[in-house]
Amino acid sequence: MAQKDVGNKVPIYKLKKTDEVMKYYDEWGEDNKYDQDMVDWNYTGPKETSEIFVKYQTDKEIKIYDAGCGTGLVGVELKKYGFSNFHGADLSQKLLDLVPEDLYQKLDKVDLNKEINEKDNSFDALMCVGTFTFGHVKPPALDEFIRITKNKGLICFTINEGIHEEYGFDKKIDQLNKENKWKELEFFKSNYIASKDVNAWLGLYEVNK
Ligand SMILES: C[S@@+](CC[C@H](N)C(=O)[O-])C[C@H]1O[C@@H](n2cnc3c(N)ncnc32)[C@H](O)[C@@H]1O
Repeated sequence: MAQKDVGNKVPIYKLKKTDEVMKYYDEWGEDNKYDQDMVDWNYTGPKETSEIFVKYQTDKEIKIYDAGCGTGLVGVELKKYGFSNFHGADLSQKLLDLVPEDLYQKLDKVDLNKEINEKDNSFDALMCVGTFTFGHVKPPALDEFIRITKNKGLICFTINEGIHEEYGFDKKIDQLNKENKWKELEFFKSNYIASKDVNAWLGLYEVNK
């Protein structure tokens, strides 16, 4: 799969280490450039995932963990459908500082490649949009996502098409399917950043415990 030049200053596929990724996003947040770029590029990840999520999730009171929430674009979209109980987690303090006030109940600076400091079954649903990409969060995070999500809760995510096989997301998802850890409700190629010719797999799964 060709590596596409999407990113701020340096192409995103060149990122390897967590420190590099954190610095990259902290700088991208300056002068609100991240949000402006997402508008200019017509980044549709948050909108597309929210549209699929609300097809299956009718209870608006649920508590949602937004893994890699960035500036809160997923919360902005889900709020349009009446959801309001969001807990955001991200590596970049700069982006967390840009989340609109009062949109999220709680915001934590977290490295999602490590154990998540939340109790088992803490959330009714989990969203992870734009965060499974080059040098970012790796497949074992899916085990943690399942652990902190309640039985029958929904997990909705995108995976940049360029890393789906290279990083072993395909195998990890197969394994979770076979082990009956979740049930696949949706899995398809979404637009994502079509303006840059970058698409992403969009998955929606129901946790089975
Ligand atoms: C493309 S942005 C997506 C942000 C937001 N979900 C959206 O759709 O606009 C990827 C996000 O993943 C975060 N990220 C990258 N590596 C991370 C890690 N190891 N732990 C937590 N967040 C991480 C970045 O800081 C950034 O906010």
